[in-house]
Amino acid sequence: MIRTFLMFLIAGLTISSCSRPSANDSAGGEMDSFISDLMDEMTIEEKIGQLNLITPGGGIPTGEAVSTNVEASIKEGKVGGIFGVTSPEKVRKAQTLAVEGSRLKIPLLFGSDVIHGYKTTFPIPLGLSFSWDMNLIEKTARVAAVEATADGLNWTFSPMVDVSRDPRWGRVAETAGEDPFLGSEIAKAMIQGYQMDDLTANTTMLATVKHFALYGAPEAGRDYNTVDMSRLRMFNEYFPPFKAAVHAGVGSVMSSFNDVDGIPATGNKWLLTEVLRNKWGFDGFVVSDYTSVNEMIAHGMGDLQAVSALALKAGLDMDMVGEGFLTTLRKSLDEGIVTDEDIDNACRRILEAKYKLGLFDNSFLYVNEALPAREILTEATRAVSRDAAARSMVLLKNNDQILPLKSEGTVALVGPLANDKNNMLGTWAVSGDPQTSVPVLEGMRNVAGNSVNIRYAKGANISDDAEFAEKVNVFGPRIVIDDRDPADLLSEAVKVAAGADVIVAVVGEASEMSGESASRSEISLPESQKLLVKELDATGKPLVLVIMSGRPLTIDEELALADAIIFTGHPGVEAGNAIADVVFGNYNPSGKLTMTFPRNVGQIPVYYSHRATGRPNPGDEFQKFRSNYLDVENSPLFPFGYGLSYTEFEYSEITLDKSSMTSEDSLTASITVTNTGDYAGEEVVQLYIHDQVRSITPPVKELKGFKKIMLESGESKTVEFVITEKELSFYNYDIDFVSEPGGFEVFIGTNSDELQTASFELIE
Ligand code: NOJ
Repeated sequence: MIRTFLMFLIAGLTISSCSRPSANDSAGGEMDSFISDLMDEMTIEEKIGQLNLITPGGGIPTGEAVSTNVEASIKEGKVGGIFGVTSPEKVRKAQTLAVEGSRLKIPLLFGSDVIHGYKTTFPIPLGLSFSWDMNLIEKTARVAAVEATADGLNWTFSPMVDVSRDPRWGRVAETAGEDPFLGSEIAKAMIQGYQMDDLTANTTMLATVKHFALYGAPEAGRDYNTVDMSRLRMFNEYFPPFKAAVHAGVGSVMSSFNDVDGIPATGNKWLLTEVLRNKWGFDGFVVSDYTSVNEMIAHGMGDLQAVSALALKAGLDMDMVGEGFLTTLRKSLDEGIVTDEDIDNACRRILEAKYKLGLFDNSFLYVNEALPAREILTEATRAVSRDAAARSMVLLKNNDQILPLKSEGTVALVGPLANDKNNMLGTWAVSGDPQTSVPVLEGMRNVAGNSVNIRYAKGANISDDAEFAEKVNVFGPRIVIDDRDPADLLSEAVKVAAGADVIVAVVGEASEMSGESASRSEISLPESQKLLVKELDATGKPLVLVIMSGRPLTIDEELALADAIIFTGHPGVEAGNAIADVVFGNYNPSGKLTMTFPRNVGQIPVYYSHRATGRPNPGDEFQKFRSNYLDVENSPLFPFGYGLSYTEFEYSEITLDKSSMTSEDSLTASITVTNTGDYAGEEVVQLYIHDQVRSITPPVKELKGFKKIMLESGESKTVEFVITEKELSFYNYDIDFVSEPGGFEVFIGTNSDELQTASFELIE
């Protein structure tokens, strides 16, 4: 693509015009020389300015500081990017300040937390991961990119691919769950949706993989807490989605708040340079998290000048909000603590991102006042959200096929989340407007029409605890404590339930009960809702629970009481319609859990791919001197990969096309799945592998493949998985990615616990 660089004609600088090849061609010599020419013109202050990311506070300030003097700073060339500014009008204004008001007229990056949709909010990322549907996930990122770019943005702080096995940590809501293989697939799908193959298109945006690294493993599940982990575990279990993102061409990486092996990630050279750049070949830029450079002072790494220099030298390129780079790097340069080369490297990477986005060709590429009305929150984008939400729901229980409900009779729709707009979008929906969401009551009426009599009662507050509610309500009223006495709410609901044929109770967490800085030490339903479920059960009416939450919950009591349970995450803007689609059978649920549900908090961390101990306990019966508990089983409440359907699937035995393979060839495992029930439905066929003997203790099984298939009632399909050396390889003690000859088990089935087995040998 040949384009002309006009801006510098106006600037009257030595660079007058140049034409360049595709801006996605990062190795392009023309990009290099263009940036070299530009950097020749830059003062050291202007270079440091490019490393500065500010926010005037239009989004959600997730730290203590917000930027001030924004206009003057932009004009002085002290800003490389800005976030929290949206709409073409505002972006145009800020970009004009940069390209008309600053000496070198370098355009700004415009970032935002576009996490699960922009204004069309999709299910929370954990919910989307339950779909195991990569085309769908890519589509949601695509819709988000089209909307966000229509609103002037060119950079998203997504995907978040932190592996986490600790549901006390509130940010599991933003993750793809506990598994590195699935997380890697989701990372690739989302990056493709945001960036596509041409970053210069005005509907694509730069993606950011975050938070590098280990943020999902804080001690005690408390946000921002210390992490201590072996390198074996990092490479085998926590790094893979980041590596996959780098190989998928992600444009930027965000460093995490926590420390990694004793050094905060934001100042960790081993992490940001040795692993990320030297080992994996990352060639984009690294941005800090919100004031995470400054926070290294509290970590105990020195004063602002020291931690800023540490971060730069470690390989951090852009400082989010804290202005440590802006205010101290010049001094550190003068004192010889950092070099010109350190600053140049970081500056070059930021300029490259701008180049790749096409901003030097047209700084207003993403600014078109006509687009928001046309592209944002349309009927078509809502339809994608409704479909995504239905596909993300997990049927956990369905006794006597009580679901789907027939479109007749009286339904008691109760619960604090049954007629609620405030909590449908879920956490980190900074651009979404809760008031645009469809509550469950409205959705049920839309879908069931007049043939069903739906009677509503709130039944309980999300929580009766005003102090707790205040902590949750920082971004608006998420827990609204009713003026009525809790006992009155309860008796009204019981009355409504007693007069109905079936009860549908919508219970769970308010959206901000999970997410950033929302760790919980108990992850059950709040007491008010536990009581509601008990009282509803006592009516003797069939009880369907719809559970919304940003994390796995300990729901063993509710599991025993309910006849059916649908786990929905927080479903997004079309919540009510999508839930009704599933409840009334317009969509047959196909979601599968991507995080293990513990029986109680004491089991945490509990995850399917654990390593075997020397004293394993194969069953759930207590055995003295075996690895188990006196007071709870080892098995979880629901395993990874679990999820029912309205139909039934039967699996044949596994067929292997050979009994051994070498590292040069491959082996095919196949299995036939038959829909033996009455409904058409989708099934996620899961492949796990276990290395029987190897030089470091192997996990009992690891996900290595999956396929989502559609089967009509009575239909069979044979699913094939090709196994190559890659699926059998791991990082060994020396952190080399190797396979070791010997026996392997293959498991294929409907979840990580119900599997067919076969075995084969890897031979030299
Ligand atoms: C802090 C969060 O950790 C990060 O995920 C987010 O992108 C930034 N704040 C910016 O809002």
